Amino acid sequence: MAEIPETYEGGDGAGRASGSGGGPSRLAPVTVPDIRAAKGARRLVMVTVTDEPSARWADRAGVDLLLVGDSLAMAALGRPDTLTVTMAEMIHHTRAAALGTRRALLVADMPFGSFQVSVADAVRNACRLVAEGGARAVKLEGPRTAEVEAIVGAGIPVVGHLGLTPQSVHSFGGYRVQGRDEDAALLIVKQARALERAGAFLLVLEALPAAVGKAVTEAVTIPTIGIGAGPACDGQVLVLADLVGLSEPPLPRFVRRYAALGEALRDAVQRFADDVRRGAYPGEAECYTAPAGLAEALEQRKEDT
Ligand code: KIV
Repeated sequence: MAEIPETYEGGDGAGRASGSGGGPSRLAPVTVPDIRAAKGARRLVMVTVTDEPSARWADRAGVDLLLVGDSLAMAALGRPDTLTVTMAEMIHHTRAAALGTRRALLVADMPFGSFQVSVADAVRNACRLVAEGGARAVKLEGPRTAEVEAIVGAGIPVVGHLGLTPQSVHSFGGYRVQGRDEDAALLIVKQARALERAGAFLLVLEALPAAVGKAVTEAVTIPTIGIGAGPACDGQVLVLADLVGLSEPPLPRFVRRYAALGEALRDAVQRFADDVRRGAYPGEAECYTAPAGLAEALEQRKEDT
């Protein structure tokens, strides 16, 4: 019988790839009916993710929803806005995030250009995010009731997004708080009702005065998730890079940082570099041992090479 090779892993040798943690969560997956039922019963939590590790760790934190947002343009791709994100990129990142998601409901953003041209295009692209990316729901920006109705009709749950919709940044003249006067606020309430009638099961409300977030939340029977829309929303979402401290200022007023991972990452790499430069890495425990006699044999046969 072949000799069992020295394991690639350190520690328990449980066959995990380097960098992966424990096994999958045993909790039941969050469903669209669970999200609808949360209204008035408990606050919902959503965070954005960009890949398998961020989805895996955020999922383990027990959040309700993970969003592969087109904000990955800034969070993961170093771009200035969300407008250049393509369907291929969204599918690529969603597929990775789906592999890390066990329990949370995974939502994928429909990128700019994927739903504005025609309703048929919107349905086709929503189907791709589910079939090729592994999303369980999609999100699209703006009061696009015909598109929402058609995607819901195709059997795909839809999250609406109102207020500051970043794909319309140029129409807004910058990243500005929306709904600041009575007419604008009432229009957003009407749009929210229309999206609910079209079949959306959840609404993201971005950058609205807290009073407008409250008015929208009270006007619809589906839950609202705020990002800079005040505490009355049925839940809150933040971009993970902002929450864990990987993004750089200036940051929107609604961002609260819960970790300083950027600094932690830099410090870890600096310590690694110091260890390498002073010969302290790798140590004996980090080296593979040679079978008995191999080192001596190599020494004797130096000339053969
Ligand atoms: O892309 C994104 O991160 C979003 C959030 C603002 C909810 O849409």
